[in-house]
Amino acid sequence: MSQHLFLPVVMMVASPIPGAFQDSAVSPTQGEFEDLDCGRPEPSSRIVGGSDAHPGTWPWQVSLHQGGAHICGGSLIAPSWVLSAAHCFVTNGTLEPADEWSVLLGVHSQDGPLDGAHLRSVAAILVPHNYSAVELGADVALLRLASPARLSRWVRPVCLPRASHRFAHGTACWATGWGDVQEADPLPFPWVLQEVELRLLGEAACQCLYSRPGPFNLTFQLLPGMLCAGYPEGRRDTCQGDSGGPLVCEDGGRWFLAGITSFGFGCGRRNRPGVFTAVAPYESWIREHVMGSEPGPAFPSQLQKPQSGPWESREENCTFAQPECGKTSQPGTWPWEAQVMVPGSRPCYGALVSDSWVLAPASCFLDPPRDLEAWRVLLPSHPEEERVARLVRHRNASRDSASDLALLQLRTRVNLTAAPSAVCLPHPEHFFLPGSRCHLARWGRGEPAPGSSAQLEAQLLNSWWCHCLYGRQGESVPPPGEPPHLLCPAYQEEEEAGRCWSDSGWSLLCREEGTWFLAGYRTLSSGCLRPRAFSPLQTHGPWISHVTQGAYLEDQLTWGWGPEGEETENQICPPHTEHGACGLRPKATPAGVLWPWLTEVHVTGHRVCTGILVAPGWVLAATHCILRLGSTTVPSIEVYLGQAGASSLPQGQQVSRSVISIRLPRHLGLRPPLALLELNSRVEPSPSVLPICLHPGGIPPGASCWVLGWKEPQDRVPVAAAVSILTPRLCRCLYQGVLTPGTFCVLYAEGQEDRCEVTSAPPLLCQTEGGPWVLMGMAVRGSQELFAAIDPEAAWISQTVGEAHFLHPSGSPYWPPEDSDLCPQDLAGTASSHKVAAALLLLLLAPQIQG
Ligand code: ARG
Repeated sequence: MSQHLFLPVVMMVASPIPGAFQDSAVSPTQGEFEDLDCGRPEPSSRIVGGSDAHPGTWPWQVSLHQGGAHICGGSLIAPSWVLSAAHCFVTNGTLEPADEWSVLLGVHSQDGPLDGAHLRSVAAILVPHNYSAVELGADVALLRLASPARLSRWVRPVCLPRASHRFAHGTACWATGWGDVQEADPLPFPWVLQEVELRLLGEAACQCLYSRPGPFNLTFQLLPGMLCAGYPEGRRDTCQGDSGGPLVCEDGGRWFLAGITSFGFGCGRRNRPGVFTAVAPYESWIREHVMGSEPGPAFPSQLQKPQSGPWESREENCTFAQPECGKTSQPGTWPWEAQVMVPGSRPCYGALVSDSWVLAPASCFLDPPRDLEAWRVLLPSHPEEERVARLVRHRNASRDSASDLALLQLRTRVNLTAAPSAVCLPHPEHFFLPGSRCHLARWGRGEPAPGSSAQLEAQLLNSWWCHCLYGRQGESVPPPGEPPHLLCPAYQEEEEAGRCWSDSGWSLLCREEGTWFLAGYRTLSSGCLRPRAFSPLQTHGPWISHVTQGAYLEDQLTWGWGPEGEETENQICPPHTEHGACGLRPKATPAGVLWPWLTEVHVTGHRVCTGILVAPGWVLAATHCILRLGSTTVPSIEVYLGQAGASSLPQGQQVSRSVISIRLPRHLGLRPPLALLELNSRVEPSPSVLPICLHPGGIPPGASCWVLGWKEPQDRVPVAAAVSILTPRLCRCLYQGVLTPGTFCVLYAEGQEDRCEVTSAPPLLCQTEGGPWVLMGMAVRGSQELFAAIDPEAAWISQTVGEAHFLHPSGSPYWPPEDSDLCPQDLAGTASSHKVAAALLLLLLAPQIQG
């Protein structure tokens, strides 16, 4: 019925139930009820993990309809009375009108003809005054029928337990209903009543399970009057739509209503048994309200008195069920790896997701599946070749590459052991944390891995990075908890130009607490852009569990966010250029690379200069640093990329290239300040190597600017110093006589002046809030304050480097038109006096200077 109940954390509330757990005195009216036979179905003979009930097995089961639809279950306790759950009738604190409801009795399949079945309207709904919310207990309701039910072999009341009745834990009881057969998976047509055998759990054992964080990292405090039934390993449970329905246990040949289906955390999840309202504590409440009804409900006395029953046991420890999927003793050897052999084509790799289903790309099986007869499935450590009974393609498989999935059912179930075994699948709300340890595995018609298995080790990147590298400008990054659009693992692959692994053919396995999940699979064609993007599998979890009815969807097991956590601000992607993403600088990348466009330019026998990557094969640097004055020979130059910052990425992320040509713009007679270095081969974008953006038309409005350099030219640890860019007029006034065209000047923020050395010619970068980083200039020879502007050379750069990342110029110019060329008095020649400049700056331009 209602949405899943994922309940907030620990609650401690005193018993809200009047008379709960205290034996009410045996009622003098008890005799009146003895006439009504109860809890005896005519001899014969989902709920999650259940099966079709036989007609007439559970004759007290009723279906409660509102607006013509089944909403909840209920149990007939007397001809005019049904017991159900309060939460079925209370929305936002108000009790719904009784006349909206009707009770369907004697029904088996909800797909008519309903022979033996009949409908009654509801005259009154009674809910305990202390009921407020399902997780706070007292989730019980009495429904008085407008006219008595017609009792028959299909319609009979259940027995009610007296307050003193004790159901021993471990007792096998039965729950019934027309609810979902799995989370978000409604009971299929023809809606036959489902039954499932559930074991009662002792209060202590249940609390023990719920005290340990489960789905959503939540724990739960059970309250008196709640009762648990199910199994630590899950898989059998009640679910949405079963609420209000019965949990019955047999005693002396009669069925007693031990509990009322109330809630759970998801359905059938590990260590999360279903929670029921215990009925026994409500003996007096029920008697009080049905008083005078003829005949009323029956409360037969308990026959099998559990003696020194385990129900009294107070032991607090319990055995937690461990995941039954995703285990391997050796990463790289995957016990779920399935090879589907279709005659006439290469093997297609997929994953075993249950004891009888294999998940594989639908694109392996393009033709309509004729002749499944000849198909074979090979599984690890499994001598038999399995045959295929059925192929179920995802309905969007051919239209949408992110749905390129098919499920193959094996003719016989395989025995799941160490191998073969099933891989775990994520629930839709799974959030694989950045930095997760992952591994690539074969998928589809993938080529064998080049090199060693260690090359297939991967680490998940921050989702902002992943999303914005591929996403469009202004797209928002799904926050943690919402299904991601993409998963990006960083992994090592061949670095040589033009050699990247075949575009698909890999799945992504990620490990949490030693358990492996099938997290994603490669679908996107992205050339050699890195990190490679994988489609997340989690959105397909419901489809997979719907088809397979038994795939291992497993809860998220790791919740530690690490010191920084996932960035939550700045979740809008900055603009891309026509060549893709540039200037992205993730703060919380597990890779730890801070400045992916900063390179080291090593000039042999000379020095190390800073260089800035402007395109996959091009670096921009200051000419004076690269070429010695007067030198005529082109030096040998090496460029190191991907090491600007403490990187924990695989070694392969740090690469070098040699420079094959130096390009200078034409500057009539003058030594041009900027040089473009052409690399011997491209370096494809990755989190550690990404080009900077360029911005024609000067500083983007509202930008903060930084000089990015090294503290020492020897150790080359990148540092940034905050600066303000002076207006052209102020700059000219301060540097009268020394200023060459195309130069601008900066003012350092307090205490930032000495952060970087100048011999390596550090660059100046600006960033607007939430936007990409943009290169503004490179330091001119020997100066800390003067920078050669990129802007005047924009045309030359874009002609030389086709792929340079020029952003669209933003509308308003940074500087307002200047009204006069005159310098403020006494300014000339004070260039070194920062105090004067700062004072002037504040006076003249304060409103425009940011950060
Ligand atoms: N609250 C649900 C309903 O209204 C019943 C959920 C039972 N869930 C469970 N995991 N046992 O139908």
